[in-house]
Amino acid sequence: MGLLREGINEIIATTRDNAAPMGVILRDNSYAMVAFHGSHTAENISRHGWVVANIVHDPVMYVRTAFSDLEPGYFCEEAAGGLAVQRLLNAEGWVAFQADIARDTGESLVVALTPLREEVCSCTVNPVNRGFSSVIEATIHATRYIRREDSQLARLISHHASIVRRCGGPQEREALALLEEILLRECGFRTA
Ligand SMILES: Cc1cc2nc3c(=O)[nH]c(=O)nc-3n(C[C@H](O)[C@H](O)[C@H](O)COP(=O)(O)O)c2cc1C
Repeated sequence: MGLLREGINEIIATTRDNAAPMGVILRDNSYAMVAFHGSHTAENISRHGWVVANIVHDPVMYVRTAFSDLEPGYFCEEAAGGLAVQRLLNAEGWVAFQADIARDTGESLVVALTPLREEVCSCTVNPVNRGFSSVIEATIHATRYIRREDSQLARLISHHASIVRRCGGPQEREALALLEEILLRECGFRTA
């Protein structure tokens, strides 16, 4: 199996009826994830022992799944290593993992992942776009900002928003508009 790359892969993790952006870490042929307590992902991994890494290049999906739930029509069932798992219907590729809790730090679960099955669903080619990368950066900072209104995070979000405006296409701009709407609603924050 080899769809994911060495380093941290920013994927959309599906667990039972849930999707959220997460990082899957691949180092020296070992896969792991760090899932913070309080997330549905951590709770579902503890309960069911599996997670699917969905490879997606839709920036809007990262913003949506970071802050809200997806309707059931976004998921489909798959079998992987004798387990019934769920993946995203529109994934370009996916890897199903058995998920075992290696450590509980008190703040998060360190999860050891064993690949069970993977599939490439579409052979799209994705040219590098700084707007897409900045949607990911702004979204990750925003998930933290909503919990802790820190001025450095606010500056980073505005910095990445300006890159999205300059370098992004329609999908990236739609993702930014959604992120800005969420930030305004949740904490009254406006990007510069
Ligand atoms: C690109 C990206 C990567 C993220 N990686 C992680 C991660 O590795 N672990 C984690 O606990 N949260 C991570 N988050 C934050 C979660 O997606 C966020 O807390 C989300 O609300 C959790 O949703 P859930 O409650 O449905 O699991 C990441 C967010 C983004 C945008």
